Amino acid sequence: MALIAPSLLSADFTQLQSAAKMLNESQADWFHLDVMDGVFVPNLTFGMPVIKALRPHSTKVFDVHLMIVQPERYIDAFKDAGADILTVHLEASTHLHRSLTAIRQAGMKSGIALNPHSRVDQIFDVLENTDVVCLMSVNPGFGGQSFIERTYAKVEALKNEIVRQGLETLIEIDGGVSDKNASKLIASGADVLVAGNFVFGSSNPTQTIADLKAL
Ligand code: DX5
Ligand code: ZN
Repeated sequence: MALIAPSLLSADFTQLQSAAKMLNESQADWFHLDVMDGVFVPNLTFGMPVIKALRPHSTKVFDVHLMIVQPERYIDAFKDAGADILTVHLEASTHLHRSLTAIRQAGMKSGIALNPHSRVDQIFDVLENTDVVCLMSVNPGFGGQSFIERTYAKVEALKNEIVRQGLETLIEIDGGVSDKNASKLIASGADVLVAGNFVFGSSNPTQTIADLKAL
């Protein structure tokens, strides 16, 4: 059974409070919040003010995925906004070890996200500093894209290394997750499934979350 992290990106942005309420009443574990800066990825979403506004309306873990350059500039700001997990991209962090340490020191769980082109062995030397590895199974920037099949092999290789090092780092999959790939991802070693379009685009999001949770 995986943790389920619906992504706000695919929700109706005029109804954020009702999205939070729906998740509160669902079996979702985390609330995945995609922050984009128009530089690291070719899209803009929302930042600290929106997360801070949502915080009192949600009972879920706030899983904040930063798709921004120089994410270390905003670690304390996202803590203040209500982030529980703060994930920075390998490709956006020159001093990744320092950023991960600073995230933990700020009182949050630390996360690293990897673009599809990045090899998992690039983060083996900082796994002990990492609570969550977010493997991107699409190119970040947009919801509703097709799942990249190569992801399964990356999950297996990463899981083997986490076990080898005796760690409890979680593996999160982000992008194109649906009932077509969720079971195989879990079997490969995934611990957390992000789902945007599959949840918020369905006719009954609460049931869709329950269905993913039951796998
Ligand atoms: C993409 C974001 C994802 C996105 C996933 O850049 O990081 O979290 O919301 O959306 P789906 O599940 O629709 O691919
Ligand atoms: Zn994301």
